[in-house]
Order: sequence, then structure tokens, then C-alpha cells
Amino acid sequence: MFVVFEGVDGAGKGTQIDKCCAYLDRYNINHVRTREPGGTSGAEAIRNLLVSGEVDRFDGMSELLMMYAARHLHVKNIIEPALADGKWVICDRFSGSSYVYQGFAGGVGLETVRQLHETVLGPLTPDVEIILDLPVSVSLERIKDRSHDENRFESKGLLFMESVRNGFLQYANEKPTSRIVIDARESVECIHQQIIAELMDRAS
Ligand code: TYD
Repeated sequence: MFVVFEGVDGAGKGTQIDKCCAYLDRYNINHVRTREPGGTSGAEAIRNLLVSGEVDRFDGMSELLMMYAARHLHVKNIIEPALADGKWVICDRFSGSSYVYQGFAGGVGLETVRQLHETVLGPLTPDVEIILDLPVSVSLERIKDRSHDENRFESKGLLFMESVRNGFLQYANEKPTSRIVIDARESVECIHQQIIAELMDRAS
């Protein structure tokens, strides 16, 4: 099963992915944990370009092309082999982020992302996407103390973040059975239980 975690920055994806993988370990469900942009050495090198440096050094289209260069490497080398082996793939972000950050908030257009996705990956889509939703004010409060070098996207400003949030909600609406929106203001444990319920429902 191909499981993707998505959401605005600061929504708690990392914590929930940790807990989800611990649960899979406990029940001996063989899985691979990975992330985007990244997941292979070439894709991680592209990630370093994307997440650091001046906010305006890339526009939406150049970001999109780099995301798909990285995604191509990641899918061929990590995701497809793991799925072919019968493993679960737990991925921190995937194409949903490209639809939302580049296609919607970045102004490239959803149809362009769709066409590029089809060209690079054909029909590959996640089986389930967990979308952690948070009002931008809460998100800002949560990320304000983060001190890391990977803040290029976080520097795009309030309007961009509002647009990302709305983009994810719209994205989820297009396929409500596989794109699950969860209120990220709930407690860590409550969110975890909802995620496990969704995953186990699909696994059985
Ligand atoms: P991530 O490591 O998930 O950041 P965070 O933990 O802060 O949420 O992702 C890095 C950034 O890359 C994030 O701000 C969203 C952006 N991104 C895109 O814009 N498009 C994409 O296709 C992907 C995968 C990520």
C-alpha cells in the first residue's frame, strides 16, 4: 500500500509518520519510510537546491520541474521496487504537494502538473493521502521557533500559506475517498488513531 502524508508546514506530519511507522513495526507490517523531495542521493541533492537559498531564485515552473526530476528518481529506485516487493511505502509528501504548492499556490496551473505527472509517472498515484489541515495562524505559531536551513518555502509569506491550505482542501475534495483530511489541531494521539483507522480499513 502506498501511503502519503501531506499538509501545510507545521501540521505535525513528522510526529504522525513516526507513530504510524512504530505501529506498523509493532504489527510486523513490512514498510519503507521515505520523503519528498528526496529519498535517493540524487533526489536529496535536488531537495537541497529547492529548500534553501533566496526565496525568489526559482519560480513555480522551475520548482515543478525539479520536483519531478527528483520524483522520477525516487519512484524508480525506491517506491516502485518496494511496492513490487509487497511492502508498504510511507512517504512524507508526494505529488499532492506539487499540485498544491506549484500548481495551485505557485500559479503554474493544475492541468500542467497533471500532464507532467502523466508523462513522468503514468498512472501512479498513492492509495491513500492523509492531509493534515491547520489554519495558517496556528501553523505560523508552530513554525516560528524552527531554526533550520530548509526554510525557502516557509519564506513565501502569509498569502502563499493561505493558498496552500485552501489548495489542499480543494485537492482533497476532488477524491474524498482516498484523500483524507484530518484536523491537525486535535491531540497527537487522537490524530494517530484516526490515521490508523483509515489505513487498517483499507488494508483489510
Ligand atoms: P518538507 O520537508 O515536508 O517540509 P516541512 O517538514 O517543513 O513541511 O517539504 C519541504 C518543502 O517542499 C515544503 O515546504 C513543501 C515543498 N514541496 C513542494 O513545494 N512541492 C512538492 O512537490 C513537494 C514534495 C514539496
